[in-house]
Amino acid sequence: MQFRTRAIHVGQEHDPATGAVVPPLHVASTFVQPDASMTAAYDYARTGSPTRHGFERTLADLDGGSRALAFASGMAATHCVTQLLSAGDHIVTGTDIYGGTWRLFNRVLPAHGITVTAVDSSDTAALARAMTPATKLVWIESPGNPLLSITDIGAAAEIAHRAGALLACDNTLATPVLSRPLELGADIVMHSATKYLGGHSDLLGGALVIRDAELGTRLHWLQNATGAVMGPFEAFLCARGLKTLDLRVREQSATALALAEWLAGRPGVRRVFYPGLSSHPGHALAMRQMAAGGGIVSFEIEGSLDAARRVVESTRLFQLAVSLGAAESLIELPAVMSHGSYDAAARRAVGISDGLIRLSIGLEARADLCDDLAAALTAAQAG
Ligand SMILES: Cc1ncc(COP(=O)(O)O)c(C=O)c1O
Repeated sequence: MQFRTRAIHVGQEHDPATGAVVPPLHVASTFVQPDASMTAAYDYARTGSPTRHGFERTLADLDGGSRALAFASGMAATHCVTQLLSAGDHIVTGTDIYGGTWRLFNRVLPAHGITVTAVDSSDTAALARAMTPATKLVWIESPGNPLLSITDIGAAAEIAHRAGALLACDNTLATPVLSRPLELGADIVMHSATKYLGGHSDLLGGALVIRDAELGTRLHWLQNATGAVMGPFEAFLCARGLKTLDLRVREQSATALALAEWLAGRPGVRRVFYPGLSSHPGHALAMRQMAAGGGIVSFEIEGSLDAARRVVESTRLFQLAVSLGAAESLIELPAVMSHGSYDAAARRAVGISDGLIRLSIGLEARADLCDDLAAALTAAQAG
């Protein structure tokens, strides 16, 4: 079965008791046991629950993993992966990563004796040089956020495995529609399900998809022991979101490419970051490991933070908000919004300038989005 069909049918079988086409939403926190052995499929909802399990089965199938685990948020999922590590261990990470991941790695983990080295992961040689005998985890995001850098996932897997480390890939921006890192050698995929998987700006969730069954069992043990699981309502909405994921992401990618091409020719726009553009340094690699460029476009305008602020405060359809991957188009200023948790110096050093603007392309008509951006750029220049 093809991706789109599996997204609708795997893990989402009709209810045999009633014939309901959509599986029921199970909200129970505890499950009656036939005897005291605790060997029934479900016992307590932190350990596992049917609605969450249905979403996990669909996602595991789409990402090509042996198992998926659904969490209360993307950060909870990321945190669970870091709990595989102990004091003295080392992480190598990309620099073009979500600001909250940067904060977890740089502000939380060092207190537990875990050290982190950040390098430009689109530079495979730099990634290899950053490995040490203590490196247990390589964490990449491709496309990166907010600069849309592309990391060679297969090469990163080889580097990690040669050193006896795991490769985890934040696949939030690409989704399994565009890229399946486990097929390229990654051990773990992480999603902020808040974004494309849910797809409608109405839930918070995260997920891990794991290639190896034994590693999946270890992560499930950690998830159950620490408790940040996805609730049943969110799991129901995520399972529903997955049914239209392929359609949404392909449409958003087509609109994003059209807008990126249009922005690249605009006066006042210094640079456009979009892996679907042939001018992007990672374009050729992106076209090998992704089915399309994705729904996120960043661009840098000439002028200061104030000039960028005027643009993001002038759009009408692009709503000024962090997050991404939904039906509604969003616009934001990474320097002070999504990546505001970086130190200013660290942020500038990794290339997130004050004039950088990030767009999350929604499902509105392409022409309306283009008109909205044109009017905002004109208004900002006039101001
Ligand atoms: C790429 C990426 N990874 C991880 C996260 C964290 O996910 P959550 O907000 O669901 O905790 C985000 C959130 O913006 C993100 O954009």
